[in-house]
Amino acid sequence: MSLVEKLMYEVEPAVRVSGGKVTVVGTGQVGMACAFSILTQNIASELALVDVVADKLKGEMMDLQHGLTFLKNVKVSADTDYSVTAGSKICIVTAGARQREGESRLSLVQRNTDIFKGIIPKLVEHSPDTILLIVSNPVDILTYVAWKISGLPKNRVIGSGTNLDSSRFRFLMSQRLNVAPSSCHGWIIGEHGDSSVPVWSGVNIAGVRLRDLDSSIGTSEDPEQWTQLHKQVVESAYEIIRLKGYTSWAIGLSVAALAQAILKNTRSCYAVSTLVQGMQGIDKDVFLSAPCVLGENGVTHVIQQTLSEAEKAQLQKSANTLYEVQQGLTY
Ligand code: NAI
Ligand code: 2OP
Repeated sequence: MSLVEKLMYEVEPAVRVSGGKVTVVGTGQVGMACAFSILTQNIASELALVDVVADKLKGEMMDLQHGLTFLKNVKVSADTDYSVTAGSKICIVTAGARQREGESRLSLVQRNTDIFKGIIPKLVEHSPDTILLIVSNPVDILTYVAWKISGLPKNRVIGSGTNLDSSRFRFLMSQRLNVAPSSCHGWIIGEHGDSSVPVWSGVNIAGVRLRDLDSSIGTSEDPEQWTQLHKQVVESAYEIIRLKGYTSWAIGLSVAALAQAILKNTRSCYAVSTLVQGMQGIDKDVFLSAPCVLGENGVTHVIQQTLSEAEKAQLQKSANTLYEVQQGLTY
């Protein structure tokens, strides 16, 4: 008789019924920040990690497992084999190359597309009902690539998009106004990164639109130069990469918020990358960020913001640029 049998009578073999399994592919700086944020906020009931570097993967798994005493009952597993991901409600993909200092996100596109060709089919094979949450860069194009390779419906393929850019913007706003970031409201939409679009017309505190107080806000005529905030958002990643080599904590928290909205079916609204063909005058099949309602089946609705002609034109320009890049890809 084993020790376990001496300790406990088995009434029925234990089964872990888990509706909240999350997989993170890529256990680098971003993947582990996502994993840690999800664990510490008790969002998932099970976390599976996958990477190609077996030793690093095992080390990360063990390090997390040794902290499970301090969390709720979560199971953490890891393997280079995708069978460990089976039954995932959400698969978060952070695998791939990251920018070096001064390098643009777009320059990573074919390298990371090639990596996705190996990852996405295996995720879908083991979790056909999953929602893919893409983080690797360039995130909008890679979300399109994941959608194409996976064959999943568009509501179940989501890019982390400008949720991070919007959070950066709200933080910078909070610094100017000395009001908490969560009470500063503003949306950055479009491409994650260089050509993102700040929707100045909607920027508000407690429903008071800054544009109603000063119509020059967000324009070059503004004496207070609020446009600098958006410039800082665009430059943020480049600056952090120069300072510490990568960005991680904010994207980890941003992704955890998206995972929470999906797993708990909160129907919260976040700026994520979704198929925007037919919206805001965009005719190309590209993924860009817009405010989306998230629930257990992914993106259910896209909020139709009232945009200026200039904002729409900027979105259409980004869409055309991304479309051109997509045309040159092999996947
Ligand atoms: P990293 O180099 O620290 O980690 C990448 C990980 O991917 C490594 O552990 C590597 O072994 C793994 N990997 C490579 N090929 C793989 C494959 N075929 N299968 C499984 N794993 C594989 O890079 P970091 O800093 O974690 O960045 C990851 C990605 O996230 C980059 O593309 C980066 O640009 C992007 N990123 C996106 C953000 C966003 O807002 N969308 C924010 C920050 C980073
Ligand atoms: C970021 O914006 C590099 O896309 C990454 O932090």
